[in-house]
Amino acid sequence: MEKLHINLDEKSYDIFIERGVFEEAGKYISEVYKKKKIVVVTDTNVDKLYGDQLLKTLEMSGYTPVKVVFEAGEENKNFETLTEVYEKIIDSEIKRGDLLIAFGGGVVGDLAGFAASTIYRGIDFIQIPTTLLAQVDSSVGGKVAVDTRRGKNLVGSFYQPKMVIIDPDLLKTLDEREIRSGMAEVIKYGAIYDNEFFEYLLGKEGLKDSMVDIEKIIKKCCEIKAKIVEIDELDMGIRMILNFGHTLGHAIEKYYDYTKYTHGEAISIGMYEITRLGEKLGITNAGESKKIKEILTKYGLPIEDRVEIKDLIEIMKTDKKNISGILNFIFLSEIGKVDIKKVAEEEIANKLLK
Ligand SMILES: NC(=O)c1ccc[n+]([C@@H]2O[C@H](COP(=O)([O-])OP(=O)(O)OC[C@H]3O[C@@H](n4cnc5c(N)ncnc54)[C@H](O)[C@@H]3O)[C@@H](O)[C@H]2O)c1
Repeated sequence: MEKLHINLDEKSYDIFIERGVFEEAGKYISEVYKKKKIVVVTDTNVDKLYGDQLLKTLEMSGYTPVKVVFEAGEENKNFETLTEVYEKIIDSEIKRGDLLIAFGGGVVGDLAGFAASTIYRGIDFIQIPTTLLAQVDSSVGGKVAVDTRRGKNLVGSFYQPKMVIIDPDLLKTLDEREIRSGMAEVIKYGAIYDNEFFEYLLGKEGLKDSMVDIEKIIKKCCEIKAKIVEIDELDMGIRMILNFGHTLGHAIEKYYDYTKYTHGEAISIGMYEITRLGEKLGITNAGESKKIKEILTKYGLPIEDRVEIKDLIEIMKTDKKNISGILNFIFLSEIGKVDIKKVAEEEIANKLLK
């Protein structure tokens, strides 16, 4: 059992990582929740695979769980779904003081976490992430949100879970494309924070080889994320480095209306392109984009797209990190080290993706 602690004073919590830990979720939850009623919020895919199993393990630990299921997919991480989720929670007699479990990938974690942060002015919640992306990134750190037609994650809050329970065995049913997508975020941690970890991932034969050590890899990512969030919970400073590749990635995702690429694939293109731009602007050491390309290609991730830069800039103008025509870009100075730069829209227009 790998156990991490994220230290945020009264909002501190533990992260448990172990193959098979899902079967004993109730036992761990009883450390932080003593009442009976729990609402499990999940999506249709995860429900089909594991919904009944989770309810059973909770019942065995003496809880009375109810389930709220919404249609899987990023296109459903919106206000319409959120309203349905609120209403089902209210109809199932969950009250203030009861617990919510967000059980699924990043879409479930973000939407259910936002529901928890707002329903009855906030109820406690626990994350049980089921995708690699959610296990290494979105379930830790308390960012919860929904998308609007104007862009991704534009409405949300910071709301820390009471516990995160990570079972890498749940990844066995996940599409290989989704696993590769999660690897993009894994690679991001090495690129922004830990050259040794980057080299370790680069030294692997590829995805299969990495999956053998996935528990260790997830732990490393959560450790890095925990360190960053402990310093800057509210994303005013160092936490921004986690957005490496994301300003561009989000724009690419939105350009294709979230249909062409998964989140991780779009971030992968974003990380490569921003590193190339960093080299052109003299911010990133020469040769680093080659290494980024090598590692992303090794894990079967895309690095380029033919989308026009002027279209991306229009989209980036609505990015919540864009303040008055200045975009906050996270550049690498070298692998393992970052440089946050404010770049004017016009400045990137001529140099990006060329
Ligand atoms: N809050 C944060 O800090 C943060 C960080 C990164 C990303 N995100 C958000 O995360 C979302 C992407 O998350 P994601 O990539 O996990 O997508 P997702 O939640 O849509 O999951 C991908 C697909 O896999 C299915 N699935 C989930 N677990 C499964 C399992 N164990 N077996 C089989 N199928 C399974 C889902 O139903 C879905 O169809 C985006 O909305 C992004 O904005 C949030």
